[in-house]
Amino acid sequence: MTAAKVLNMNSRTVKVTIDDKEVELPAFKGTEGEWAIDIATLRAKTGYITMDHGFMNTGSCTSSITFLDGEQGILRYRGYPIEQLAEKSNFLEVAWLLLNGELPTQSDLQNFDRQIRSRTNLPPPIFNMISTFPKNAHPMAILGSVTMAMSGFYGNFPEQNFSKEQMTDLFATLMGTIRQIAAVTYRHTASKNFVQPNRDLDYCSDFLNMMFGGNGYKVDPEVAKALDLLLILHADHEQNCSTSTARLVGSSQASPFAAVSAAVAALWGPLHGGANQAVLEMLEEIKNDGGDYKKFIAMAKDKNSTFKLMGFGHRVYKNFDPRAKIIKKACDNVLAKLGVNDPLLGIAKGLEEAALNDSYFVERKLYPNVDFYSGIIYRALGIPTNMFTVMFALGRLPGWLAQWKEMIESSNTKIGRPRQIYTGETSRDYKKRS
Ligand code: SDX
Repeated sequence: MTAAKVLNMNSRTVKVTIDDKEVELPAFKGTEGEWAIDIATLRAKTGYITMDHGFMNTGSCTSSITFLDGEQGILRYRGYPIEQLAEKSNFLEVAWLLLNGELPTQSDLQNFDRQIRSRTNLPPPIFNMISTFPKNAHPMAILGSVTMAMSGFYGNFPEQNFSKEQMTDLFATLMGTIRQIAAVTYRHTASKNFVQPNRDLDYCSDFLNMMFGGNGYKVDPEVAKALDLLLILHADHEQNCSTSTARLVGSSQASPFAAVSAAVAALWGPLHGGANQAVLEMLEEIKNDGGDYKKFIAMAKDKNSTFKLMGFGHRVYKNFDPRAKIIKKACDNVLAKLGVNDPLLGIAKGLEEAALNDSYFVERKLYPNVDFYSGIIYRALGIPTNMFTVMFALGRLPGWLAQWKEMIESSNTKIGRPRQIYTGETSRDYKKRS
């Protein structure tokens, strides 16, 4: 059954003419007026497939979770503008919204919060597993490995038909344990004893306490609030690289822990979530080099250099990333509230202004993305640079889970298996080489 039929939305047909043969293909429109040609029958009708490196123009699914308009710089979770959620909501409420499609009632939210707190209880062997990693192991290597290992303790769900209660419990388990794995990973790499979860603390405060607790540490409510905002802003972003990975792995009916572990792996790349760490390293390099960001802009423009201005550019946004705007404003507020004076913020602002006035960036519509300023806040919150992408994963977890759930519940879902065009040797007989 093609997407067009299932969607039963405004549909039309388009004609494709190859040589003297004309075929009709269905096309359909989503609720925001985006059109797609359904090419499910293209190869059968024409013998042709399409080719689209990096899937720049190819839709993998229909989804009702997140809407982006890259030209307008619009981001909405289940129809709610990110600006309103950032100002009025909180991370657990946003996670529930993404997972269930509607904002939770206060009792839903309290129950979800309570379930997450009670499920924040890693099996002891997981602590041992984390402790086996070298202290200098990248935290994303630990997070991805241990998340996969979790299916050995919580089941791999081969049946894939979940009741609402089982699905909510699975989400609470992952939302609780991944947060704890992140904190325990930090404590291990920092050679500090582990701090047990405190069920009296809210989601972000308990995370901060598990990260920095001990020796009289008290969670600063301003720090917890700033972290909650960052997690909201990272919670989902439609079919980005790591989310598409979670969907693809999940389409083979692998365990949800496997799908999340694969998403963590994809997020780690510096072109994706790993960019927030790369931005901070770039800003540090500029600072250590005397603060001359113009030299780095020149390198980014130099076709002979592989250097890219990290935190700039986006596959979809050809305008400001709305999240970057919110984070930039929050930078000033959070650093002022915490009394932090970080010279890297000034360098970042200078770099942004210089790039946005440079024709190379303007012509290519390269604007700051979510990763450009986020690291400056994480740093002000005391989070080490090599943990920045783990923080991105913590925020993106409900998005990965919501997209995975939508995928397994969709009657349209088939195992993801793209085609190719072969360009290698044609048939030849075997002859052993001397
Ligand atoms: C995230 O998809 C999502 O939604 C991702 C994300 C999410 O929430 O999940 O938003 C999170 O991953 C944000 C992006 C973080 N990555 C970075 O900041 C790394 C730096 N950015 C680039 O690597 C790049 O902009 C990408 C990867 C983000 C997008 O790459 P595209 O869409 O494949 O574009 P491209 O590489 O083909 O670039 C087009 C042109 C090229 O120049 P020309 O060949 O046309 O002359 O723009 C240039 C590129 O060289 N370019 C850059 C640049 N980004 C693009 N040149 C210098 N510095 C850059 N950052």
